[in-house]
Amino acid sequence: MAVYSRIAGTGSGLPEKILTNKDLEQFVETSDEWIASRTGIRQRHVAAEGETTCDLAERAARAAMEAAGVTAAELDMIVVGTTTPDLIFPSTACLLQHRLGANGCAAFDVNAACSGFIYALSVADNFIRAGNAKTVLVVGAETLTRMLDWSDRNTCVLFGDGAGAVVLKADTEAGILSTHLHADGGKKELLYNPVGVSVGFKPEEKNAGVRVLMTGNEVFKHAVKALDAVVDETLEANGLQKSDLDWLIPHQANLRIIEATAKRLDMPMDRVIVTVHKHGNTSSGSVPLALDEAVRSGKIQRGQLLLLEAFGGGFTWGSALIRY
Ligand code: UT7
Repeated sequence: MAVYSRIAGTGSGLPEKILTNKDLEQFVETSDEWIASRTGIRQRHVAAEGETTCDLAERAARAAMEAAGVTAAELDMIVVGTTTPDLIFPSTACLLQHRLGANGCAAFDVNAACSGFIYALSVADNFIRAGNAKTVLVVGAETLTRMLDWSDRNTCVLFGDGAGAVVLKADTEAGILSTHLHADGGKKELLYNPVGVSVGFKPEEKNAGVRVLMTGNEVFKHAVKALDAVVDETLEANGLQKSDLDWLIPHQANLRIIEATAKRLDMPMDRVIVTVHKHGNTSSGSVPLALDEAVRSGKIQRGQLLLLEAFGGGFTWGSALIRY
């Protein structure tokens, strides 16, 4: 009998501190009007001093495990999508595993920038389908604001911090119907952070390189095109029509990108989960945060068909079609 992964529980972890567009106006040349009209963002959560990606991941993970009724001892694997790990190593997944008391199970990070959660979900789903894991914690967690240049209005108004998590359990009923992952490493310079281990940290230039660099309008065009293609691919792979979908849960980078994908799918915006106004772009955190909010608010019901998608640095992009 075929084995699928089902979402048994979801959770969120957001920092308490909120930075509004009005707050940003105080220290960078921008306006609430510009940010809201170009991106849909009104505010974002920002990690407090000393608050790390693992702190947010832990909150999201505990909430998801509680919702799923799963204990740490039951976890076979932890996969964390993140591009802002606490440390270079050990992985954030290992740090999280120890905090949860799940010592012994497999734990690793996946770095696919803003597509990190979709990539992590796909990896976990494949382990479950292959019969190599039964219960997997999948997290998307980021503290993107740690690598922003707060004087660069092209990027600092866009990002926020946060984490979302799901617990996947093996089941004979679907579940995750399919996942679709893509990347194009040829577009690196359009969205990246130039600092890294083997290129050197350049510590003498304090914080000089530790920042997100983005050619926003180019990324925008690539994102819309790639997401159009991947939602078509997902429906085709499952022999489904646009009208079969109940909810679109998109990556929350820009409301205009979300609206373009919704239009492609002929979906009215009241069937699209939008959190970008509250969270900004939380990279790997954005899709599971949106999913958790929609589940907890009662919008998403068991049995409904969900399409998750994301696009980010790499470029990376992907989707997951889920019978919730
Ligand atoms: O999650 C990873 C994937 N990332 C994304 O998907 C992001 C994709 N890109 C975007 O969301 C949009 O391109 C942005 C929101 C980043 C920018 O919006 P845009 O409509 O593409 O604007 P633009 O970059 O073409 O800039 C338009 C103008 C420029 O001024 P000039 O040259 O026309 O005089 C910018 O300097 O807006 C100016 N501008 C700003 N003005 C006020 C750029 N940032 C700001 C700002 N406040 N924060």
